[in-house]
Amino acid sequence: MAKDRGSFNSRFTAIMAMAGSAIGLGNIWRFPYMVGQNGGAAFILVYLFSAIFLCIPIFLAESIIGKRTHLSTFGAMEKLAPGTRWKWLGFLTVFTPLIILSYYSVVGGWSIEYFLKSLTLSFSDPAVSMEEHSAVFGGFISSPWRPLVLHTVFLLINAVVVIFGVRGGIERFTKLTTPVLFILIVLIMLYSVNLPGASAGIDYLIHPDFSKITGSALLSAMGQAFFSLSLGVGCILTYASYLKSDENLLATGIFTSMFDLLFAIIAGFAIMPAVFAAGIEPGAGPGLIFETLPYIFSTIGVDAPWLCNIVAILFFLTILFAALTSSISMLEVGVAYLVDQRKMSRAKATALLFAGCWILGVLCSLSFGPLRDLHVFGMTVFDACDHLTSDFLMTFGSLLFVFFVGWKMKRAEVRDEFTNCGTLRFNSRVFGVVYFFIRYVAPAAIIAIFLSNLLI
Ligand code: TRP
Repeated sequence: MAKDRGSFNSRFTAIMAMAGSAIGLGNIWRFPYMVGQNGGAAFILVYLFSAIFLCIPIFLAESIIGKRTHLSTFGAMEKLAPGTRWKWLGFLTVFTPLIILSYYSVVGGWSIEYFLKSLTLSFSDPAVSMEEHSAVFGGFISSPWRPLVLHTVFLLINAVVVIFGVRGGIERFTKLTTPVLFILIVLIMLYSVNLPGASAGIDYLIHPDFSKITGSALLSAMGQAFFSLSLGVGCILTYASYLKSDENLLATGIFTSMFDLLFAIIAGFAIMPAVFAAGIEPGAGPGLIFETLPYIFSTIGVDAPWLCNIVAILFFLTILFAALTSSISMLEVGVAYLVDQRKMSRAKATALLFAGCWILGVLCSLSFGPLRDLHVFGMTVFDACDHLTSDFLMTFGSLLFVFFVGWKMKRAEVRDEFTNCGTLRFNSRVFGVVYFFIRYVAPAAIIAIFLSNLLI
Protein backbone atom coordinates (compact mmCIF):
# COMPACT_ATOMS: atom_id res chain seq x y z
CA MET A 1 0.00 0.00 0.00
CA ALA A 2 1.28 3.48 -0.77
CA LYS A 3 2.86 4.79 2.42
CA ASP A 4 0.97 8.03 2.79
CA ARG A 5 -2.51 6.87 1.88
CA GLY A 6 -3.63 6.17 5.41
CA SER A 7 -5.98 3.41 6.52
CA PHE A 8 -8.79 2.84 8.97
CA ASN A 9 -7.76 1.99 12.47
CA SER A 10 -10.09 -0.87 13.29
CA ARG A 11 -13.10 -2.80 12.04
CA PHE A 12 -15.40 -0.65 14.14
CA THR A 13 -14.18 2.62 12.69
CA ALA A 14 -14.22 1.21 9.16
CA ILE A 15 -17.85 0.15 9.52
CA MET A 16 -18.74 3.44 11.14
CA ALA A 17 -17.11 5.37 8.31
CA MET A 18 -18.84 3.28 5.65
CA ALA A 19 -22.13 3.47 7.49
CA GLY A 20 -21.48 7.18 7.89
CA SER A 21 -21.14 7.47 4.14
CA ALA A 22 -24.24 5.38 3.57
CA ILE A 23 -26.49 6.91 6.20
CA GLY A 24 -27.27 10.45 5.28
CA LEU A 25 -29.82 12.69 3.66
CA GLY A 26 -30.58 9.72 1.44
CA ASN A 27 -32.23 7.96 4.36
CA ILE A 28 -33.84 10.86 6.15
CA TRP A 29 -34.61 13.33 3.40
CA ARG A 30 -34.73 11.37 0.13
CA PHE A 31 -36.24 8.04 1.15
CA PRO A 32 -39.47 9.45 2.66
CA TYR A 33 -40.21 11.72 -0.29
CA MET A 34 -39.40 9.02 -2.84
CA VAL A 35 -41.80 6.71 -1.00
CA GLY A 36 -44.39 9.48 -1.09
CA GLN A 37 -43.93 10.15 -4.79
CA ASN A 38 -44.00 6.50 -5.78
CA GLY A 39 -46.98 5.19 -3.94
CA GLY A 40 -45.86 3.92 -0.52
CA ALA A 41 -45.57 0.30 0.51
CA ALA A 42 -45.11 -1.19 -2.98
CA PHE A 43 -42.11 1.09 -3.52
CA ILE A 44 -40.69 0.00 -0.18
CA LEU A 45 -40.96 -3.65 -1.15
CA VAL A 46 -38.99 -3.13 -4.36
CA TYR A 47 -36.52 -1.07 -2.40
CA LEU A 48 -36.04 -3.85 0.15
CA PHE A 49 -35.64 -6.41 -2.55
CA SER A 50 -33.02 -4.32 -4.33
CA ALA A 51 -31.19 -3.55 -1.12
CA ILE A 52 -30.82 -7.18 -0.14
CA PHE A 53 -30.35 -8.95 -3.46
CA LEU A 54 -28.59 -6.29 -5.49
CA CYS A 55 -26.92 -3.89 -3.14
CA ILE A 56 -25.01 -6.40 -1.07
CA PRO A 57 -23.42 -8.07 -4.13
CA ILE A 58 -22.55 -4.66 -5.60
CA PHE A 59 -21.16 -3.52 -2.29
CA LEU A 60 -19.00 -6.64 -2.18
CA ALA A 61 -17.87 -6.20 -5.77
CA GLU A 62 -16.76 -2.64 -5.13
CA SER A 63 -15.03 -3.47 -1.89
CA ILE A 64 -13.24 -6.46 -3.43
CA ILE A 65 -11.70 -4.13 -6.02
CA GLY A 66 -10.82 -1.51 -3.40
CA LYS A 67 -9.25 -3.85 -0.88
CA ARG A 68 -7.41 -5.80 -3.56
CA THR A 69 -5.69 -2.77 -5.02
CA HIS A 70 -5.61 -0.23 -2.20
CA LEU A 71 -6.15 2.35 -4.88
CA SER A 72 -8.96 4.66 -5.85
CA THR A 73 -11.19 3.81 -8.81
CA PHE A 74 -9.10 4.92 -11.74
CA GLY A 75 -5.86 3.43 -10.42
CA ALA A 76 -7.63 0.26 -9.33
CA MET A 77 -8.96 -0.34 -12.82
CA GLU A 78 -5.57 0.36 -14.36
CA LYS A 79 -3.99 -2.12 -12.01
CA LEU A 80 -6.50 -4.92 -12.46
CA ALA A 81 -7.09 -4.46 -16.19
CA PRO A 82 -4.07 -2.57 -17.47
CA GLY A 83 -4.28 -0.89 -20.83
CA THR A 84 -8.02 -1.50 -21.27
CA ARG A 85 -11.02 0.77 -21.50
CA TRP A 86 -12.02 -0.15 -17.94
CA LYS A 87 -10.14 2.85 -16.77
CA TRP A 88 -12.99 5.00 -18.09
CA LEU A 89 -15.07 3.56 -15.32
CA GLY A 90 -12.61 5.37 -13.09
CA PHE A 91 -13.58 8.67 -14.72
CA LEU A 92 -17.27 7.96 -14.42
CA THR A 93 -16.87 7.34 -10.75
CA VAL A 94 -14.98 10.55 -10.23
CA PHE A 95 -17.59 12.71 -11.90
CA THR A 96 -20.83 11.13 -10.70
CA PRO A 97 -20.26 11.77 -6.99
CA LEU A 98 -19.31 15.33 -7.79
CA ILE A 99 -22.62 15.95 -9.56
CA ILE A 100 -24.38 14.36 -6.61
CA LEU A 101 -22.41 16.47 -4.18
CA SER A 102 -23.49 19.63 -5.98
CA TYR A 103 -27.17 19.16 -5.27
CA TYR A 104 -26.63 17.29 -2.02
CA SER A 105 -24.86 20.30 -0.61
CA VAL A 106 -27.85 22.46 -1.48
CA VAL A 107 -29.97 20.26 0.76
CA GLY A 108 -27.08 20.28 3.25
CA GLY A 109 -27.48 24.07 3.25
CA TRP A 110 -31.20 23.70 3.99
CA SER A 111 -30.28 21.51 6.96
CA ILE A 112 -27.99 24.24 8.26
CA GLU A 113 -30.87 26.71 7.96
CA TYR A 114 -33.18 24.45 9.96
CA PHE A 115 -30.51 23.81 12.54
CA LEU A 116 -30.09 27.57 12.98
CA LYS A 117 -33.85 27.96 13.22
CA SER A 118 -33.97 25.33 15.95
CA LEU A 119 -31.31 27.25 17.87
CA THR A 120 -33.52 30.32 17.84
CA LEU A 121 -36.34 28.14 19.22
CA SER A 122 -38.49 28.70 16.14
CA PHE A 123 -40.45 25.47 16.31
CA SER A 124 -41.93 25.65 19.79
CA ASP A 125 -44.87 27.89 18.92
CA PRO A 126 -47.91 25.63 18.51
CA ALA A 127 -49.90 28.54 17.10
CA VAL A 128 -47.94 28.34 13.83
CA SER A 129 -50.04 26.26 11.45
CA MET A 130 -48.92 23.61 9.03
CA GLU A 131 -49.54 25.97 6.11
CA GLU A 132 -47.32 28.57 7.71
CA HIS A 133 -44.47 26.07 8.16
CA SER A 134 -44.79 25.13 4.48
CA ALA A 135 -44.90 28.76 3.42
CA VAL A 136 -41.77 29.54 5.44
CA PHE A 137 -39.93 26.67 3.74
CA GLY A 138 -41.17 27.69 0.28
CA GLY A 139 -40.08 31.28 0.89
CA PHE A 140 -36.67 30.17 2.08
CA ILE A 141 -35.74 27.88 -0.82
CA SER A 142 -36.98 30.28 -3.44
CA SER A 143 -35.11 33.27 -2.05
CA PRO A 144 -31.90 33.69 -3.99
CA TRP A 145 -29.25 34.50 -1.40
CA ARG A 146 -29.64 32.63 1.81
CA PRO A 147 -29.68 29.09 0.36
CA LEU A 148 -26.64 30.00 -1.73
CA VAL A 149 -24.66 31.19 1.26
CA LEU A 150 -25.55 28.06 3.22
CA HIS A 151 -24.70 25.80 0.27
CA THR A 152 -21.28 27.46 0.26
CA VAL A 153 -20.86 26.98 4.01
CA PHE A 154 -21.81 23.31 3.77
CA LEU A 155 -19.36 22.68 0.95
CA LEU A 156 -16.60 24.54 2.79
CA ILE A 157 -16.99 22.34 5.88
CA ASN A 158 -16.58 19.31 3.60
CA ALA A 159 -13.45 20.70 2.08
CA VAL A 160 -11.87 21.34 5.46
CA VAL A 161 -12.56 17.81 6.71
CA VAL A 162 -11.30 16.20 3.51
CA ILE A 163 -8.08 18.21 3.57
CA PHE A 164 -7.27 16.69 6.96
CA GLY A 165 -7.40 13.22 5.43
CA VAL A 166 -8.76 9.87 6.51
CA ARG A 167 -7.75 9.42 10.13
CA GLY A 168 -7.66 13.01 11.23
CA GLY A 169 -10.90 14.03 9.59
CA ILE A 170 -13.28 11.35 8.50
CA GLU A 171 -12.83 8.77 11.24
CA ARG A 172 -13.03 11.16 14.11
CA PHE A 173 -16.13 12.69 12.65
CA THR A 174 -18.19 9.59 12.04
CA LYS A 175 -17.61 7.59 15.19
CA LEU A 176 -19.86 9.67 17.38
CA THR A 177 -22.57 11.09 15.21
CA THR A 178 -23.96 7.94 13.61
CA PRO A 179 -25.10 6.30 16.89
CA VAL A 180 -26.64 9.55 18.19
CA LEU A 181 -28.65 10.00 15.03
CA PHE A 182 -29.94 6.48 15.30
CA ILE A 183 -31.25 6.97 18.82
CA LEU A 184 -32.93 10.25 17.91
CA ILE A 185 -34.70 8.96 14.84
CA VAL A 186 -36.08 6.02 16.84
CA LEU A 187 -37.45 8.42 19.46
CA ILE A 188 -39.05 10.60 16.81
CA MET A 189 -40.58 7.55 15.17
CA LEU A 190 -42.13 6.46 18.46
CA TYR A 191 -43.62 9.90 18.86
CA SER A 192 -44.78 10.17 15.28
CA VAL A 193 -46.67 6.86 15.12
CA ASN A 194 -48.66 7.95 18.17
CA LEU A 195 -49.86 11.24 16.71
CA PRO A 196 -53.62 11.47 16.17
CA GLY A 197 -54.32 10.53 12.55
CA ALA A 198 -51.00 8.70 12.16
CA SER A 199 -52.59 5.36 11.34
CA ALA A 200 -53.32 6.37 7.74
CA GLY A 201 -49.59 6.94 7.34
CA ILE A 202 -48.73 3.56 8.81
CA ASP A 203 -51.23 1.95 6.47
CA TYR A 204 -49.63 3.70 3.56
CA LEU A 205 -46.28 2.20 4.53
CA ILE A 206 -47.40 -1.38 5.04
CA HIS A 207 -50.21 -2.09 2.56
CA PRO A 208 -48.75 -2.28 -0.92
CA ASP A 209 -50.77 -1.12 -3.88
CA PHE A 210 -49.13 -2.98 -6.74
CA SER A 211 -50.81 -0.88 -9.39
CA LYS A 212 -48.33 1.82 -8.39
CA ILE A 213 -45.37 -0.24 -9.60
CA THR A 214 -44.57 1.25 -12.95
CA GLY A 215 -41.27 0.89 -14.77
CA SER A 216 -40.15 4.24 -13.50
CA ALA A 217 -41.13 3.36 -9.91
CA LEU A 218 -39.00 0.22 -10.21
CA LEU A 219 -36.06 2.20 -11.47
CA SER A 220 -36.49 4.84 -8.77
CA ALA A 221 -36.65 2.22 -6.03
CA MET A 222 -33.49 0.59 -7.29
CA GLY A 223 -31.86 4.01 -7.73
CA GLN A 224 -32.83 4.92 -4.18
CA ALA A 225 -31.31 1.70 -2.83
CA PHE A 226 -28.07 2.44 -4.66
CA PHE A 227 -28.10 6.05 -3.60
CA SER A 228 -28.64 5.13 0.00
CA LEU A 229 -25.69 2.74 0.07
CA SER A 230 -23.47 5.11 -1.94
CA LEU A 231 -23.06 2.45 -4.63
CA GLY A 232 -21.94 2.54 -8.23
CA VAL A 233 -19.75 5.60 -7.95
CA GLY A 234 -16.61 4.29 -6.32
CA CYS A 235 -17.31 5.60 -2.81
CA ILE A 236 -17.35 2.15 -1.30
CA LEU A 237 -14.42 1.14 -3.48
CA THR A 238 -12.37 4.06 -2.22
CA TYR A 239 -13.29 3.48 1.43
CA ALA A 240 -12.51 -0.22 1.04
CA SER A 241 -9.09 0.74 -0.27
CA TYR A 242 -8.42 2.10 3.22
CA LEU A 243 -9.29 -1.24 4.83
CA LYS A 244 -6.56 -3.44 6.19
CA SER A 245 -5.86 -6.48 4.05
CA ASP A 246 -7.18 -8.93 6.65
CA GLU A 247 -10.55 -7.20 7.02
CA ASN A 248 -13.67 -9.31 6.53
CA LEU A 249 -15.57 -7.82 3.58
CA LEU A 250 -18.73 -9.82 4.10
CA ALA A 251 -19.02 -8.56 7.66
CA THR A 252 -18.47 -4.92 6.74
CA GLY A 253 -20.87 -5.23 3.80
CA ILE A 254 -23.68 -6.84 5.75
CA PHE A 255 -23.38 -4.59 8.77
CA THR A 256 -23.28 -1.45 6.69
CA SER A 257 -26.23 -2.42 4.50
CA MET A 258 -28.34 -3.52 7.42
CA PHE A 259 -27.70 -0.33 9.36
CA ASP A 260 -28.57 1.69 6.34
CA LEU A 261 -31.71 -0.22 5.52
CA LEU A 262 -32.99 -0.14 9.06
CA PHE A 263 -32.30 3.54 9.21
CA ALA A 264 -34.29 4.32 6.07
CA ILE A 265 -37.26 2.27 7.22
CA ILE A 266 -37.27 3.91 10.64
CA ALA A 267 -37.04 7.33 9.00
CA GLY A 268 -40.02 6.38 6.83
CA PHE A 269 -42.01 5.50 9.94
CA ALA A 270 -40.87 8.71 11.61
CA ILE A 271 -41.94 10.96 8.76
CA MET A 272 -44.89 9.39 6.92
CA PRO A 273 -47.34 9.04 9.84
CA ALA A 274 -46.73 12.69 10.66
CA VAL A 275 -47.26 13.63 7.01
CA PHE A 276 -50.71 12.06 7.15
CA ALA A 277 -51.46 13.41 10.62
CA ALA A 278 -50.65 16.92 9.39
CA GLY A 279 -52.56 16.50 6.14
CA ILE A 280 -49.52 17.14 3.95
CA GLU A 281 -49.48 15.70 0.44
CA PRO A 282 -47.12 12.65 0.57
CA GLY A 283 -45.90 13.34 -2.97
CA ALA A 284 -44.78 16.84 -1.99
CA GLY A 285 -41.21 16.20 -3.16
CA PRO A 286 -37.82 17.34 -1.86
CA GLY A 287 -39.28 19.66 0.78
CA LEU A 288 -41.21 16.90 2.53
CA ILE A 289 -39.18 16.51 5.70
CA PHE A 290 -38.52 20.22 6.05
CA GLU A 291 -42.26 20.81 6.15
CA THR A 292 -43.14 17.80 8.27
CA LEU A 293 -40.51 17.94 11.00
CA PRO A 294 -41.39 21.47 12.14
CA TYR A 295 -44.97 20.26 12.45
CA ILE A 296 -43.90 17.29 14.59
CA PHE A 297 -41.82 19.56 16.78
CA SER A 298 -44.55 22.10 17.27
CA THR A 299 -47.04 19.43 18.33
CA ILE A 300 -44.51 18.31 20.92
CA GLY A 301 -44.36 21.97 21.89
CA VAL A 302 -48.02 22.02 22.93
CA ASP A 303 -47.28 20.02 26.06
CA ALA A 304 -43.59 20.48 26.53
CA PRO A 305 -42.00 23.51 24.85
CA TRP A 306 -38.58 22.83 26.34
CA LEU A 307 -38.59 19.23 25.14
CA CYS A 308 -39.60 20.34 21.68
CA ASN A 309 -36.65 22.70 21.52
CA ILE A 310 -34.15 20.15 22.75
CA VAL A 311 -35.36 17.50 20.31
CA ALA A 312 -35.39 19.95 17.41
CA ILE A 313 -31.86 21.18 18.07
CA LEU A 314 -30.44 17.69 18.51
CA PHE A 315 -32.29 16.38 15.51
CA PHE A 316 -31.23 19.01 13.03
CA LEU A 317 -27.70 18.93 14.35
CA THR A 318 -27.44 15.19 13.79
CA ILE A 319 -29.08 15.43 10.34
CA LEU A 320 -26.38 17.91 9.53
CA PHE A 321 -23.70 15.52 10.72
CA ALA A 322 -25.26 12.64 8.81
CA ALA A 323 -25.27 14.78 5.70
CA LEU A 324 -21.66 15.75 6.21
CA THR A 325 -20.36 12.25 6.76
CA SER A 326 -21.98 11.28 3.46
CA SER A 327 -20.96 14.29 1.44
CA ILE A 328 -17.39 13.96 2.66
CA SER A 329 -17.26 10.53 1.07
CA MET A 330 -18.36 11.95 -2.28
CA LEU A 331 -15.62 14.54 -2.22
CA GLU A 332 -13.11 11.97 -1.03
CA VAL A 333 -13.55 9.84 -4.17
CA GLY A 334 -12.52 12.66 -6.46
CA VAL A 335 -9.74 13.84 -4.18
CA ALA A 336 -8.35 10.32 -3.90
CA TYR A 337 -8.23 10.15 -7.69
CA LEU A 338 -6.38 13.45 -8.06
CA VAL A 339 -3.94 12.60 -5.25
CA ASP A 340 -3.23 9.02 -6.37
CA GLN A 341 -3.27 9.46 -10.12
CA ARG A 342 -2.47 13.07 -10.78
CA LYS A 343 -0.05 13.45 -7.89
CA MET A 344 -1.79 16.60 -6.72
CA SER A 345 -1.61 17.71 -3.12
CA ARG A 346 -4.73 17.04 -1.05
CA ALA A 347 -5.31 20.74 -0.58
CA LYS A 348 -5.09 21.58 -4.26
CA ALA A 349 -7.27 18.64 -5.28
CA THR A 350 -9.90 19.62 -2.74
CA ALA A 351 -9.91 23.25 -3.86
CA LEU A 352 -10.36 22.27 -7.48
CA LEU A 353 -13.30 20.00 -6.80
CA PHE A 354 -14.81 22.47 -4.41
CA ALA A 355 -14.93 25.04 -7.20
CA GLY A 356 -16.63 22.66 -9.65
CA CYS A 357 -19.25 21.51 -7.16
CA TRP A 358 -19.88 25.01 -6.00
CA ILE A 359 -20.78 26.25 -9.46
CA LEU A 360 -23.12 23.38 -10.31
CA GLY A 361 -24.62 23.63 -6.82
CA VAL A 362 -25.41 27.29 -7.36
CA LEU A 363 -27.48 26.35 -10.42
CA CYS A 364 -29.23 23.62 -8.43
CA SER A 365 -30.00 25.99 -5.60
CA LEU A 366 -31.33 28.71 -7.88
CA SER A 367 -33.56 26.18 -9.60
CA PHE A 368 -36.01 26.55 -6.72
CA GLY A 369 -36.16 30.30 -7.27
CA PRO A 370 -34.89 32.59 -10.03
CA LEU A 371 -33.94 29.70 -12.35
CA ARG A 372 -37.07 27.63 -11.84
CA ASP A 373 -37.93 27.94 -15.51
CA LEU A 374 -34.55 26.80 -16.76
CA HIS A 375 -35.23 23.24 -17.84
CA VAL A 376 -32.83 20.44 -18.79
CA PHE A 377 -34.56 17.37 -20.29
CA GLY A 378 -37.83 18.90 -19.09
CA MET A 379 -36.66 19.10 -15.47
CA THR A 380 -35.19 21.77 -13.26
CA VAL A 381 -31.41 21.66 -12.90
CA PHE A 382 -31.76 20.18 -9.40
CA ASP A 383 -34.10 17.40 -10.55
CA ALA A 384 -32.03 16.75 -13.66
CA CYS A 385 -28.84 16.27 -11.61
CA ASP A 386 -30.67 13.96 -9.22
CA HIS A 387 -32.37 11.94 -11.93
CA LEU A 388 -29.30 11.65 -14.13
CA THR A 389 -27.11 10.40 -11.29
CA SER A 390 -29.36 8.11 -9.29
CA ASP A 391 -31.37 6.58 -12.12
CA PHE A 392 -28.65 6.36 -14.74
CA LEU A 393 -25.05 6.97 -13.79
CA MET A 394 -25.13 5.07 -10.49
CA THR A 395 -27.07 2.20 -11.99
CA PHE A 396 -24.70 2.03 -14.90
CA GLY A 397 -21.67 2.25 -12.61
CA SER A 398 -23.02 -0.54 -10.41
CA LEU A 399 -23.60 -2.72 -13.44
CA LEU A 400 -20.04 -2.21 -14.60
CA PHE A 401 -18.61 -3.01 -11.16
CA VAL A 402 -20.43 -6.31 -10.80
CA PHE A 403 -19.65 -7.15 -14.37
CA PHE A 404 -15.99 -6.44 -13.84
CA VAL A 405 -15.71 -8.59 -10.72
CA GLY A 406 -17.95 -11.34 -12.07
CA TRP A 407 -16.58 -11.63 -15.57
CA LYS A 408 -13.30 -9.83 -15.86
CA MET A 409 -11.44 -10.73 -12.68
CA LYS A 410 -10.36 -14.31 -12.17
CA ARG A 411 -12.60 -16.36 -9.93
CA ALA A 412 -9.62 -17.36 -7.79
CA GLU A 413 -8.63 -13.74 -7.36
CA VAL A 414 -12.12 -12.76 -6.22
CA ARG A 415 -12.22 -15.73 -3.91
CA ASP A 416 -8.89 -14.86 -2.32
CA GLU A 417 -9.97 -11.33 -1.62
CA PHE A 418 -13.36 -12.35 -0.28
CA THR A 419 -12.07 -15.13 1.95
CA ASN A 420 -8.68 -13.58 2.75
CA CYS A 421 -6.95 -16.45 0.97
CA GLY A 422 -9.20 -19.03 2.53
CA THR A 423 -8.61 -17.98 6.14
CA LEU A 424 -12.22 -16.88 6.72
CA ARG A 425 -14.17 -20.08 7.05
CA PHE A 426 -17.69 -18.78 6.81
CA ASN A 427 -16.84 -16.61 3.81
CA SER A 428 -15.29 -19.63 2.08
CA ARG A 429 -18.49 -21.57 2.60
CA VAL A 430 -20.79 -18.91 1.14
CA PHE A 431 -18.46 -17.80 -1.63
CA GLY A 432 -20.25 -19.84 -4.29
CA VAL A 433 -23.57 -18.14 -3.63
CA VAL A 434 -22.07 -14.67 -3.40
CA TYR A 435 -20.18 -15.20 -6.64
CA PHE A 436 -23.33 -16.39 -8.37
CA PHE A 437 -25.11 -13.20 -7.31
CA ILE A 438 -22.27 -11.01 -8.46
CA ARG A 439 -21.84 -12.80 -11.75
CA TYR A 440 -25.43 -13.47 -12.80
CA VAL A 441 -28.20 -12.20 -10.56
CA ALA A 442 -27.11 -8.61 -10.03
CA PRO A 443 -26.26 -7.79 -13.66
CA ALA A 444 -29.41 -9.50 -14.97
CA ALA A 445 -31.67 -7.75 -12.47
CA ILE A 446 -30.17 -4.33 -13.13
CA ILE A 447 -30.59 -4.76 -16.87
CA ALA A 448 -34.14 -6.05 -16.46
CA ILE A 449 -35.19 -3.13 -14.27
CA PHE A 450 -33.53 -0.73 -16.62
CA LEU A 451 -35.39 -2.14 -19.60
CA SER A 452 -38.68 -2.26 -17.74
CA ASN A 453 -38.37 1.47 -17.25
CA LEU A 454 -38.34 1.87 -21.01
CA LEU A 455 -41.14 -0.59 -21.63
CA ILE A 456 -43.77 -0.26 -18.86
N1 TRP B 1 -25.60 7.33 0.72
C1 TRP B 1 -25.64 8.69 1.12
C2 TRP B 1 -26.99 9.02 1.69
O1 TRP B 1 -27.80 8.16 1.86
C3 TRP B 1 -25.31 9.63 0.03
C4 TRP B 1 -24.05 9.29 -0.62
C5 TRP B 1 -22.81 9.28 -0.10
C6 TRP B 1 -23.93 8.95 -1.95
N2 TRP B 1 -21.92 8.94 -1.03
C7 TRP B 1 -22.57 8.73 -2.17
C8 TRP B 1 -24.84 8.81 -2.93
C9 TRP B 1 -22.14 8.39 -3.40
C10 TRP B 1 -24.40 8.45 -4.15
C11 TRP B 1 -23.08 8.23 -4.38
O2 TRP B 1 -27.28 10.14 1.98
